[in-house]
Amino acid sequence: MNYRDAINIEDLRRIARRRLPRFVFTYVDSGAEDEITLRGNREAFAKLQFRPRTLVDVSTRDLSTQILGRHSALPIVVGPTGLNGLSWRDGDMELARAASRAGVPFAMSTVSMSLVEDIAREAPGRLWLQAYVFSERRITDALLRRALDAGFEGLMLTSDFPVAGKRESDWRTGLLPKQQFTLATKLDMLMHPRWLATVATHRPRFVNVERELGPGHDVNNFVGHGMFDPSFRWDDLKRFRDLWPRKLMLKGLLRADDAQRAVAAGVDGLVLSNHGGRQLDGAISGIEALPEVARAVGGSVSILIDGGVRRGSDIAKAIAQGAEGVLLGRAPVYGLAAGGAAGVTRAIEILADEFDRTLALTGCRNVAELTADLIATRA
Ligand SMILES: Cc1cc2nc3c(=O)[nH]c(=O)nc-3n(C[C@H](O)[C@H](O)[C@H](O)COP(=O)(O)O)c2cc1C
Repeated sequence: MNYRDAINIEDLRRIARRRLPRFVFTYVDSGAEDEITLRGNREAFAKLQFRPRTLVDVSTRDLSTQILGRHSALPIVVGPTGLNGLSWRDGDMELARAASRAGVPFAMSTVSMSLVEDIAREAPGRLWLQAYVFSERRITDALLRRALDAGFEGLMLTSDFPVAGKRESDWRTGLLPKQQFTLATKLDMLMHPRWLATVATHRPRFVNVERELGPGHDVNNFVGHGMFDPSFRWDDLKRFRDLWPRKLMLKGLLRADDAQRAVAAGVDGLVLSNHGGRQLDGAISGIEALPEVARAVGGSVSILIDGGVRRGSDIAKAIAQGAEGVLLGRAPVYGLAAGGAAGVTRAIEILADEFDRTLALTGCRNVAELTADLIATRA
């Protein structure tokens, strides 16, 4: 199957699984420990049901919305994912281009493999930098300065990574903790000649971090292990508020009291997230945390959620419960692995089409009409 023939996100996932060496697909697809949270993200959406309105004239519909006070063609953000250069040559750039064409924001990961400056030049649009807070603060500060100079609109600080989650599947392939690939992984790479020729020969690297580390550091061993600061705390958030004059978001919270603290620290947006089930196994989902957080801080700050969004109806459920929109993690990356930027565009098209149908079928003409009374929760 070709990405053009994919009729849903699961089709793109299947194509990605076929095209990628197992260690890359595993990195994208898997979660921490027993993957209870990974599965829980999908189950949380399945528990929410619609109470549709009927006999509404839905002949014209508008999918656009405001995210952080600015127009977005769809209520989605292409969220930050690391190591995209392993899924497709210049993967971060391809994702950014597709987001730019779709008219939605793109959040670039700290552990991206395309330069901040190149992305800003070649994929103009709403660009956000996702930042992990490095123990060596100068690295984070330098990345922030470069993103500011390049015209990035937003900074998204990730708060759910004081230590790396236990991603056992990545340990088995040898990608983690220190890129010591097993023989089976090496043989599997050889079984993917197209990937070897297009991706591996290009030697994808953590170019942004590498530039700040300087010579003498092996960035591949540096990234992911003890590099992020486990002492990052609320006082530091205030420091970042002072450093970053544009839109500031905090990603990775799941509680109303944390949301209130973030608002008090002056953030503009919250991303309710469990990191796609890749960090704390057993954590609740963004969509589950949403009602409590929306009650506590709704209206004073933008709320986005992520985790398990695979259908347009998931987007509608999030908005109905008080989110401005959703971040997509794996869905666009499956598209990327299936067909580069065109595959990402296909993923966004699929979700937009499903979201449009959901609007019509729930009796809504636009995002504002997606209200909480449309949702029932199955026990
Ligand atoms: C392959 C992969 C890499 C990720 N890398 C990052 C990252 O570098 N920074 C970050 O804040 N979140 C990262 N995440 C988490 C995503 O931003 C997002 O929270 C999560 O994927 C949402 O769940 P979903 O994949 O089910 O949509 C990553 C997720 C995946 C799947």
